[in-house]
Amino acid sequence: MRLNAFLARAGIDSRRGADRLIKAGRISVNGRLGQLNDDVSEADDIRVNGRRINAQKPRYILLYKPAGYITTLKDPDNRVKVTDLVKINERVVPVGRLDFNTTGALLLTNDGELTNKLMHPSFEVDKVYEVVVEGEVTDEILNKLSIGVNLEDGKTAPAAAKRLADNKIELIIHEGRNHQVKRMLAAVGLPVKRLHRSKYGPLDLDSLKPGHWRDLAETEIKLLK
Ligand code: URA
Repeated sequence: MRLNAFLARAGIDSRRGADRLIKAGRISVNGRLGQLNDDVSEADDIRVNGRRINAQKPRYILLYKPAGYITTLKDPDNRVKVTDLVKINERVVPVGRLDFNTTGALLLTNDGELTNKLMHPSFEVDKVYEVVVEGEVTDEILNKLSIGVNLEDGKTAPAAAKRLADNKIELIIHEGRNHQVKRMLAAVGLPVKRLHRSKYGPLDLDSLKPGHWRDLAETEIKLLK
């Protein structure tokens, strides 16, 4: 396997990012500087900045994130992390973020290339949110949300907004800005009481329970890629 593919599979970076690390002289293969056209296998001693890495089996995991877990990997307050719920040998990381109290579908993987792709704004994976708000959902509000609202980092892209109950909305967006749903709802004067992501692209939670996870099926991985 090409050295950059090995590094991407180990979750170090995308293939392109791995090429940059190789060019910068930060990768060694069996004690010598790694080259772009190196062909390597798990038997080789491959290091990033001197630290040995193992080619991990690629893992693609869908977690039903419960409330009260953080998706960031470092937290000054030492709160529990979503990765504490997924006890496997491979080191997977969340693709994007869900807030501490947000529940629902969260993808975790050690495939650095897929992570980078899914996080890129041009890769428009639909995310379906169910939002319980404080206040009444009017047609005017649904209209504003679907056209796009002005946030401090620019207008949001057109979205699909549907009333599920007097105080509940289904909102489908494909952007992934920080706290986007809460900020969109704040912009139309509705504070969010509960936020749940029922779908991430082709992935839905079906029979998963909060805190539980499953490996993706091959077909789901193909769809995401
Ligand atoms: N938008 C938010 O505001 N919070 C989330 O957790 C996800 C999307």
